[in-house]
Amino acid sequence: MNSIVISGHNGFIGSSLTSRLKKFNIIGISDKKRKKEKNVTSIVKNVNKVNNTDVKHSFQTLIHLAAVSDISFCNANPKTCYEVNVNGTNKMLEIARKNDANIIFASSSHVYGNPIKLPIKENFPLSATNPYGRSKLIIENFLQDVFISDDSWHIALLRYFNPVGAHKSGLIGEDPNGVPNNLMPYISQVATGKLEKLSVFGGDYNTPDGTGVRDYIHVVDLAKGHVKALQVLENRPQILTVNLGTGKGYSVLDMIKTFKKISGMNVPYEIVGRRPGDIASCYMDSSTAEKLLGWKAELGIDEMCKDMWRWQLSNPNGYF
Ligand code: UFG
Repeated sequence: MNSIVISGHNGFIGSSLTSRLKKFNIIGISDKKRKKEKNVTSIVKNVNKVNNTDVKHSFQTLIHLAAVSDISFCNANPKTCYEVNVNGTNKMLEIARKNDANIIFASSSHVYGNPIKLPIKENFPLSATNPYGRSKLIIENFLQDVFISDDSWHIALLRYFNPVGAHKSGLIGEDPNGVPNNLMPYISQVATGKLEKLSVFGGDYNTPDGTGVRDYIHVVDLAKGHVKALQVLENRPQILTVNLGTGKGYSVLDMIKTFKKISGMNVPYEIVGRRPGDIASCYMDSSTAEKLLGWKAELGIDEMCKDMWRWQLSNPNGYF
């Protein structure tokens, strides 16, 4: 059986992805600081855990998800952001090299900075509006250089848009530490009454209703995109760069409205000032993913909200 190392296997995306890769032997690299890890792995069972980078088994693919992805935290702590994201990738690359492994790297739509136009294509100019995006961009450039120096590597740079949703079972979902930073987990906790109201960051953007527009993608679709990328990487040495989103943009107010409709709950909100480093609109062109991976997102915002709500109701305190 092929073995795959997944760094960050116990996070939101890692746990969904691991649960889809049942026919592989998964070696999960854990974040020891993440207290909820034990609870995640009691549900997603097909994992051999290792601490840090202590991988003893040989493996064929590395899926490198582990990162600091909280944008506000990265703004306030750039050193930690670069240390974990950039140095962490360097360490993982060493392990991949020893094993001659293929690499899938979790990149982000943030590498487009403020995009020149919409929808965003993979060949658009790259830049960043915050340290988080810059760390992902540095890693992409680093991996490009690694491929230039040795074109026998098989590398995929998957640029995630905004992953949301949860597993249909209601057993696997997003469980942020403390108060959520991202929109959808915040909305779900307002809907249950755990949080009082949502602050909508900016009502004066140049968008149809003035609030920020994003390309939300169901985490199950995102996981399926990785499975396709695994297959395509096998074919030949390459560096593959693909956007993973739905190709549709929704505003903050669209997401509140849909969540209210699905949950039947009230979601009080207040429009406040813009969040530093945020952009007005971000959604992708899906043609490259269709052409190169034969993949297209299937689930819409109703399913994303429905699955998040099921997860939220079944796990009011997350994995605890
Ligand atoms: N927003 C609010 N209030 C909140 C949180 C967010 O109005 O409390 C707004 C933001 O201003 C933005 C939209 O909701 O317009 C989405 O914000 P998120 O924080 O949910 O997502 P981002 O687009 O900022 O970035 C997210 C993750 C990154 C990831 C990226 C793309 O933070 O880790 O999606 O993959 F890389």
